[in-house]
Amino acid sequence: MITNNLESLIQGPTAPAGLKFHLGKGAKRLATPWQVAVDRAERIQLCDIPKGVILDPACGSGIQLAAYCHVLDKAGVGIELSNEVAIAAAGNLWRVGVFERSEEADWLSMSKIIVGDGTDAKSCMNLAEISQISFLHIDPARPANSRTHGLNEMRPQLPAIFANWHTHLIAESGSPALLLDLSPRLSMAQCDEVEELVRNEFGEIEMTWEWTSRGGGRVDRLSLWAGAVAEASVGCRFVRISPHIFGQSKVIKGEMERNSLKPLSVGISKVRKNEYVSIIDAALTSSGLAEEWLNSVLADEDAFRWLVCDGRRPMIAHSKPLQFVDEGDSIMVQTSGQIEAFFSPVLSAATVGELAELAASLGIHSLTLRATLSPDIQPRLQSTLHRLLKHQQKHYGGFVIDDPTSSQLLVCKTV
Ligand SMILES: C[S@@+](CC[C@H](N)C(=O)[O-])C[C@H]1O[C@@H](n2cnc3c(N)ncnc32)[C@H](O)[C@@H]1O
Repeated sequence: MITNNLESLIQGPTAPAGLKFHLGKGAKRLATPWQVAVDRAERIQLCDIPKGVILDPACGSGIQLAAYCHVLDKAGVGIELSNEVAIAAAGNLWRVGVFERSEEADWLSMSKIIVGDGTDAKSCMNLAEISQISFLHIDPARPANSRTHGLNEMRPQLPAIFANWHTHLIAESGSPALLLDLSPRLSMAQCDEVEELVRNEFGEIEMTWEWTSRGGGRVDRLSLWAGAVAEASVGCRFVRISPHIFGQSKVIKGEMERNSLKPLSVGISKVRKNEYVSIIDAALTSSGLAEEWLNSVLADEDAFRWLVCDGRRPMIAHSKPLQFVDEGDSIMVQTSGQIEAFFSPVLSAATVGELAELAASLGIHSLTLRATLSPDIQPRLQSTLHRLLKHQQKHYGGFVIDDPTSSQLLVCKTV
């Protein structure tokens, strides 16, 4: 059934060894990473979704659909405009079934991929011979070179999907189950537009916005979970996918609505010796939920203030060490340390020895340069520091970073 004009099988970079996927031409860029797909499916499993099949009316190479079907043990229907990509999707459902030793499972024998227009609900219902949809997942295609990420650029268009599938989605409870997988670059105004489209079609239903990050300080996905898959009283959440394929993701929840997230502001007071500074995951900060998380890892009554609240290295100052509850907490911080000294000379080949002497006097045997330096000199200065400090007896690690409240550098012991 799989034709040889498909690109060859590709090991999913975030899939267990041996789980390989077919990706139709151009579908690689759009495919959901397997680990993200499974993580979502496991969280949908905790929701009370209606009976029926899972529908993905723009299924691409079917990776997300296959994860849902396998984890929820439910049949799925995927619809895809491109013939070649649809064939890849059918192959991927099968490959997941085989990999998970589910060749005999009902979900696999009853799942279908249709080549066609995902907005044509009537024909698809007839072709797939289904009567009710349990849950609708939609990850519309977006132009690769889009500047605006406008809703009208999405294919298929959300209003047509909602209007044409609405009657097949309504559950006994009256609340549909919808997951809209959108661009992380949507503006606040575009998110408002999406919410309005959902309300216009389905009325006042519960909604949870989710920012998903696979690390590197990037938000990879922004999704809206609505109706039966929304989390009661959670308006927003941030999900950091584990760096380990089988690891637990870390979820940070916020009660507030997305549009009540307040912008962060930078404090004006200078940092002091013995204070702590921490660089927080940039994706968490841009989701607006960093303060929710900080309140869970800072000691009681320890206040913090933002020194930098945007960009790739958001930074806070605080007076006690962060208290991590689990591994998921530690990956929310790029680095954390206690200020031991200030270094005022401009860092260069001529002054790096002075910095090494200061570090040695503090018992620091390894000092990482995190200050803003030209890439021409950074590696050279780093290796000089390494050479000058390597015979130190003491065992503290440390880092040097720009002080956002002055023109000096902060010399910190890592905690
Ligand atoms: C972002 S991809 C989906 C990726 C998928 N979620 C995965 O995990 O692999 C969107 C897909 O929608 C398809 N598409 C666009 N318009 C469509 C339409 N009207 N009906 C069905 N599929 C459509 C595109 O060809 C593309 O493959």
